[in-house]
Amino acid sequence: MVKLIGPKKIRTAVFISGTGSNLKNLIEFSLKKKTPIEVNLIVSNNVKAKGLRFAKLYKIKKKIYNYDKKQISEKKILKDLKLNNIKLICLAGFMKILSKDFIRKFKGKILNIHPSLLPKYKGLNTHNRAIQNKEKYSGCTVHLVNSKLDSGKIILQKKVKLSKKETPLSLQKKILKHEHILYPRAINKIFANL
Ligand code: GRF
Repeated sequence: MVKLIGPKKIRTAVFISGTGSNLKNLIEFSLKKKTPIEVNLIVSNNVKAKGLRFAKLYKIKKKIYNYDKKQISEKKILKDLKLNNIKLICLAGFMKILSKDFIRKFKGKILNIHPSLLPKYKGLNTHNRAIQNKEKYSGCTVHLVNSKLDSGKIILQKKVKLSKKETPLSLQKKILKHEHILYPRAINKIFANL
């Protein structure tokens, strides 16, 4: 794991594809006095991602890659990560699967947040599936990214109770609130020597 020495913050890139509520939350977290990270780069595969507006709002560099050809895009991303001296990647609603090669190059330095209690409900439509299976609980997980989808080492999880009238949308909203607490806590847990 990366160790913090002195007041230096870990240069972080956040990868998004959509709304970016977790991105906003991580930026706010990075602006706090006691925080191990600074967000220096926002990466997106989607030029229309709503979350990209936070780049302007918080004056953070953003980069968009069209992802027509994954290999070429990833090469460009890796180049930009190096140029910006990025040491940590936080995936936050990034809808592309990173290649094994890419993950190997950033081994142990990519985090993801997933809206289920992993190993349950890997992949998409987690809330739908949890409700259909009449789960009493679902939740969210922050984990390290390895080459298998949503399967890396779990850092932290939060359990959330489903109500009787739960819909995928209500559950999504409910869990998202907990995601915003969990992601910073997981980062603090990893870089605990603050
Ligand atoms: C979150 O539910 C996250 O767990 C999942 O994608 C969603 C992204 O939401 N990976 P947002 O763009 O951060 O609002």
